[in-house]
Parts: sequence; C-alpha cells; structure tokens
Amino acid sequence: MAGARAAIGRMLVLGGGYTGRRLALTLEAAGVPVVVTHRQPPPEAHDPGWLRFDPEGGALPTLADLAGVTHVLVTIPPDAGGRDPAVDALTPLLRNLAPAWVGYLSTTGVYGDAGGAWVDETTPTRPLLERSRARLACEEAWRRSGLPVQLLRLPAIYGPGRNPMLSLRNGTARLIHKPGQVFSRVHVDDIVGAVLHCISLASAERPDTLILADACPCPSSEILGLAAHLLGCRLPEMQRYEDIAPTMGAMARSFWGENRRSSSRRLREGLGYRLLYPTYREGLPSCVGDFFLESKID
Ligand SMILES: NC(=O)c1ccc[n+]([C@@H]2O[C@H](COP(=O)([O-])OP(=O)(O)OC[C@H]3O[C@@H](n4cnc5c(N)ncnc54)[C@H](OP(=O)(O)O)[C@@H]3O)[C@@H](O)[C@H]2O)c1
Repeated sequence: MAGARAAIGRMLVLGGGYTGRRLALTLEAAGVPVVVTHRQPPPEAHDPGWLRFDPEGGALPTLADLAGVTHVLVTIPPDAGGRDPAVDALTPLLRNLAPAWVGYLSTTGVYGDAGGAWVDETTPTRPLLERSRARLACEEAWRRSGLPVQLLRLPAIYGPGRNPMLSLRNGTARLIHKPGQVFSRVHVDDIVGAVLHCISLASAERPDTLILADACPCPSSEILGLAAHLLGCRLPEMQRYEDIAPTMGAMARSFWGENRRSSSRRLREGLGYRLLYPTYREGLPSCVGDFFLESKID
C-alpha cells in the first residue's frame, strides 16, 4: 500500500459496485483521496467520494469534478448493447487529466473454452459467448483511447457478501457434478491488492494485460463443500450436469459450457505480488465473520 499511496494523487473509480466500493474504502482508510461514480443518488449509508456518472441518462462529470485525478480504475461492464458505457464519454476529459494509469477490469471469458487447460496472458483470445466478444471490443476501445491502459482480466469474483455460504443459506446452492469441470476465482481483496501493486510499479514494468486470479482452479463442489463445513450445514443432493443442463437458465449453462484454468503466474512470479488468499481454503473462511454479521442484520 505504501508505494501506491505515494503514487496516487487522487483515484477515480468508475463504478462503485462490489469491487469498486471495496477499493474505494481501502483507499479512504489509507487517507488516499478517491472519487467513485454511481448512477443512483447518494445513499444514506457512508459511501466514499460519491459522484454521479450516468452516460445513458446524460449525467457526466466536469473537469472540475475530476481535478487532480492521477489514477483511474474502470469497473463498469459493457452495456446491454455490448458497448462500453464510459470510454467515449470520458476519453477527452481523461486525456486532459493525463492520468499515470488506467486499469480496466475485464474477464477471462475472452479466452473462451480451453477444455480445462491453463490459459495465461499469452493465450490467444477466442471468445465464444456474445458477452465475451463484447468484452473484447470494450478492451479494444480502451486500448485505442490513447490513455495508459492496463487490462486486468478476472475469473469469478468472491468475498464477503458474495460467496457460496450465501447460496447455501438462501437455499439456491446446487451441488453439480460435471467430470473434469473446474472454475477459477479471485478474492475481491486480491483484486484490490493487485491493483495497488500494479500502481506502485514503474510504468515500464507493467504488462499491458494481466490475469488476476488465485492459484487454485477447482470444481465448484469443492468450495461448496467447505462452505457447508464452515456453516455446519448439509450439502444439497448431488446432481449430474447432463441431467439438469436442459432445465438450467441460459446464463448458468453458459458458465458451465466453458472450462479453463486461469493462471496468475505473471502476477505472482513476474510482478512479485503475494496473494492474500492463494486458494478458497484461506479465502472462504475469511468471509465467515461478515456472513454471520449480515445474517444477524437480515
Ligand atoms: N462478478 C464477477 O464474478 C466478475 C467476473 C469477471 C469479471 N467481472 C467484471 O469485473 C467488473 C467489476 O465487477 P463487480 O462485480 O465489482 O461489478 P458490479 O458490482 O456489478 O459493479 C459495476 C459498477 O458499474 C456501474 N455501471 C454498470 N453499468 C453502468 C453504466 N451503463 N453506466 C454507468 N455505470 C454503470 C454500476 O453502477 P450502479 O451502482 O449505478 O449500478 C456499478 O457501480 C465488471 O466489469 C464485471 O463485469 C465480474
């Protein structure tokens, strides 16, 4: 954090959702000035550096709103039409500010199906799904912006408030067996940590594309098993993928239709980032405190 704190004058987080808010709270706690965009009016609960940004609704920030911004993280996904909602609206303004770094949160879905093999930053992109093709187009739009963009590709994000303990509690968890199928994941605090690590590096040391993932792709049944153990509850009945696939929604089926292991070796060994949660075995127990706190509030 010390390196990033020294480097950042003011951070702009585009999209104060799950990951954006987590980064903003971390920066705020470290005394780093931060501004975070939202489409909705400010909530009553504390939200750091709230700024309205809703390009479809015509709400755009001014140069004065963003004065002093040195670093930017884009967490906004493609819109319903598959276009990036922010790049055209903000590029002229951002060029004016000349930030030292612009991180774009993308997805490892751009690699398509690898039949369970490892993919890394050198693997050619081969998006199969329409949303992954849209994502690749958004990456390209940011790359063409002329800003110092670093693409950060993510597998499934989990952490406090977003993990299989919640689906076990609300009865939506499914124990699905599909031979050979694995999923990669990353803890939200490792996205925050890796973003700060990238910012602290000299620009020449930063690869233009980086996968942020933990070191343990595995079947979803493994992490669900640990979630049930941590809660002391029973697992749902095991279902065979081939039996239930026809009844699954299109989105769920699309996740199960691709199989790859996303490698974060470049982040860990090339750039020297030490994962806070190398596997779900450390990451999921770290969410237990929040889980019981949220359960009480509910
Ligand atoms: N969730 C995953 O497992 C996963 C996996 C791989 C990649 N990713 C990608 O990683 C990024 C961060 O994920 P996340 O789960 O933290 O995202 P999230 O919680 O959904 O937050 C996204 C943020 O973007 C804002 N936003 C969305 N559409 C917008 C638009 N048209 N105009 C302006 N703002 C808009 C949202 O604003 P409001 O607050 O106003 O809604 C929200 O603050 C996303 O691009 C996501 O697609 C996610």
